[in-house]
Amino acid sequence: MKHIEENEMLTRVGPGTPMGELMRRYWIPAAFTHQVAEPDSPPVRVRLLCEDLVLFRDSKGRVGLLDEKCPHRTASLFYGRNEDCGLRCVYHGLKFDIHGECVDLPCIPQVSDQERERTAKELKMTAYPCVERGDVIWTYMGPPEHEPDFPDLEWTLLPAEQRFATRHVQECNWLQGLEGGFDPTHLTFLHGGDAEKSRSIVATLYEVMPTDFGFIVGTGRDRGDGTVMWNMNVMLMPFHKIISSLPHAAHVWAPIDDENTMLYSVNFHPTRALTAEDLKRETSWRGIHTENIPGTDHAIRNKHNDYLIDRALQASGASYTGMQGLGTQDCAIQESMGPIADRGKEHLLACDAAIVKIRRLLRATLADHAAQKPLPGMNPASFRVRSARCELPRGVPLGEAMREAVRLDKSVPAE
Ligand SMILES: [Fe+2]
Repeated sequence: MKHIEENEMLTRVGPGTPMGELMRRYWIPAAFTHQVAEPDSPPVRVRLLCEDLVLFRDSKGRVGLLDEKCPHRTASLFYGRNEDCGLRCVYHGLKFDIHGECVDLPCIPQVSDQERERTAKELKMTAYPCVERGDVIWTYMGPPEHEPDFPDLEWTLLPAEQRFATRHVQECNWLQGLEGGFDPTHLTFLHGGDAEKSRSIVATLYEVMPTDFGFIVGTGRDRGDGTVMWNMNVMLMPFHKIISSLPHAAHVWAPIDDENTMLYSVNFHPTRALTAEDLKRETSWRGIHTENIPGTDHAIRNKHNDYLIDRALQASGASYTGMQGLGTQDCAIQESMGPIADRGKEHLLACDAAIVKIRRLLRATLADHAAQKPLPGMNPASFRVRSARCELPRGVPLGEAMREAVRLDKSVPAE
């Protein structure tokens, strides 16, 4: 029973759920800016944290994110007309601005101006504030009095030519994605080639440390000379990962609902524009991106075609999975666990120490939130971190050295 409750608590993200309310305290990616490129361009549907919303850019270029349903008769505003600083429901002509205010009520000409004004006030809609950072529209769905400043997330601070981002839907709960992203052992197997060689390079030391931005997952490899090389991956609350290869990379697991996740995958270079060669490599099957069905957020290689698994390639030893693309491999294996993995059926092993610690930390953060204690990541500068590596003598406890090593001004790229 206990594990069922725990699993529910960590995975469910709808309004009123513990994790859903925690996530609502942070800025969440809603769409790419190009999806609503022009003033008065067509609105788009957005589903986030189990809420159906509609996103539009008004005549002044401002972005609005409203409840998808018109508060009059609950028709979808996705079919609405985006005109003259508002989105107009095509059922009875009610019009709403980006703040969710009803600014026109043409269907009741028979009532007095006073009555119409009063009615308009009652029709105020749910509207979430939005900001545009790093070619992405982010929204804040939490209590207005707690709205934090947008964090200094490195890839959102760079010029557009130093960044490349894609996204695709994963048909599973967000936590499967996040746990997969921070699962240190899977790299050598799932994404590896030679099964035999893999055995010798598995790291055996795992540490997860809370920080002021989220946590660090450290993976240590004992070098046999009294030192341990630690690779440290940073998790920025509530669902960001920075990968330290160059160009650097980042993931954001933004929950669509309990059983679907929008995974944003980003490459970025802190000091120069990405080259055609960078992009070719990163979008090849060695990169983290997926190739999507044109006009959709769904990967061409997906669960409905078994990710186009190539059994001959798998048998050849050149690829553990026989699936093309790191993103596809992660997606396949995370989706295969079911829409919400039943963690009560797991048999966790020594190599899952990091996963166990991540869950413990997430539960601790939920408890802090419930107790109205300060949350990590509220100070924008706390996000100025990057995954990194550091060498420490064997047996030296981790702590400040690692927290320092991931700071942007200090970081050494991870292996
Ligand atoms: Fe992976």
